[in-house]
Amino acid sequence: MDHFTYVDGAMLAEQVPMADIAAQVGTPVYIYSTATLTRHVAVFREGLSQIHDPLIAFAVKANPNAAVLATLAKLGLGADVVSAGELLRAIAAGIPAERIVFSGVGKTADEMRIALEQGIYQFNLESEPEAEMLSEVALSMGRKAPVAYRINPDVDAGTHAKISTGKSENKFGIPYDRALASYAAARDLPGLDVQGVAVHIGSQLTDLTPLEAAFIKVGALIERLRAEGHDIRTADLGGGLGVPYDPSQPLPPSPADYGAMVTRITQGWNVRLMFEPGRLIVGNAGVLLSQVVRVKQGAQAPFVIVDAAMNDLLRPSLYDAWHDIRAVHPKGERAAANVVGPVCETGDTFAMHRDMDVVGAGDLVAFMTAGAYGATMASTYNSRALTPEVLVSGDKWAVVRARPPIEALIEGDSIPAWIASEGVQD
Ligand code: LLP
Repeated sequence: MDHFTYVDGAMLAEQVPMADIAAQVGTPVYIYSTATLTRHVAVFREGLSQIHDPLIAFAVKANPNAAVLATLAKLGLGADVVSAGELLRAIAAGIPAERIVFSGVGKTADEMRIALEQGIYQFNLESEPEAEMLSEVALSMGRKAPVAYRINPDVDAGTHAKISTGKSENKFGIPYDRALASYAAARDLPGLDVQGVAVHIGSQLTDLTPLEAAFIKVGALIERLRAEGHDIRTADLGGGLGVPYDPSQPLPPSPADYGAMVTRITQGWNVRLMFEPGRLIVGNAGVLLSQVVRVKQGAQAPFVIVDAAMNDLLRPSLYDAWHDIRAVHPKGERAAANVVGPVCETGDTFAMHRDMDVVGAGDLVAFMTAGAYGATMASTYNSRALTPEVLVSGDKWAVVRARPPIEALIEGDSIPAWIASEGVQD
């Protein structure tokens, strides 16, 4: 559910007409709803209500905007980060280090040092060489790093191949069968305090079965690790719960269903449970607002050319992702259309043969469910400025990331003196 609704034929973001934002900020622009963010946190918490003191660490990669993170910090969330950049962003937005977990296969020594200085809650290790490096870095600082190993349970998450992470051929985690040996080796590393187990099998999961299979494996591993004398105190169950993108499709499992399954599977584990939801918190809390530049006749359906492109919202190009596209002022007519951006690639296509509101040049359209992995994956491809972002709360709204001027793109590069001094060849 979200707070982008129609009142008197016009789409509002909470109480703010989307057209007002377009008029003042221009398009394309991402718009986030505080009420939806707040509701999603509450619904997720409610789903976990049978679990004692869970750590809900928002996956910052889904939406690292400072205002979004500050909103989530106020709601008591922690952060799951995958780089020093995300870590420092989370801390700057008010998320305390003791609620931060650091994931990722390629943490560098510098990133480890920064995280240790900040005093984060847990490092999720993804390989033995990483464990050795972290131990050395921690020792050099006179610290012990709190760690879990992320295990790769070899479970098919049943999602898009590019966002599936728990199969043995994926780069993530340590193989389940090697886990006991990896933990035994980690215990001998003097800079580490081995405290937990972690798992994350993929994103946009629409079925609980693979999650349940992965969690059962985690439970069995915790027992075996304890039998070998490891003091396991945490279990990080990752993120991955899917959100509804296409209203014609069945709803994904609810946070309540997820919470009931987790409660059932983790009974008796006697650990602090951690969760890393990203999309579930922010997906439906954001839309990408765009304006139709022109409509061009196509061989089959018309091409609706909008001013947003694959550089603003990459998901359709990269994962064939489906985003609902709605007119901000629907005229009551629907027809099939191809919705494309101005970038010079065929992949710059948001939808083909989509039955949607009829729109014409100058009309505003909203790409729904764009709050997760939207602005954060934007680029300046085709020398287009990065997409600005707006946060709405009730009848208030603010630009929380401004649209940079095109000059900034040009001035960002520099031309070496030898080119400037040589002049133009005849
Ligand atoms: N934890 C870890 C270790 C992760 O790698 C991820 C996402 C999450 C948590 C959060 O997953 P979520 O709850 O959001 O599903 N750009 C892709 C999604 C990539 C997800 C990467 N990892 C997309 O637009 O669909």
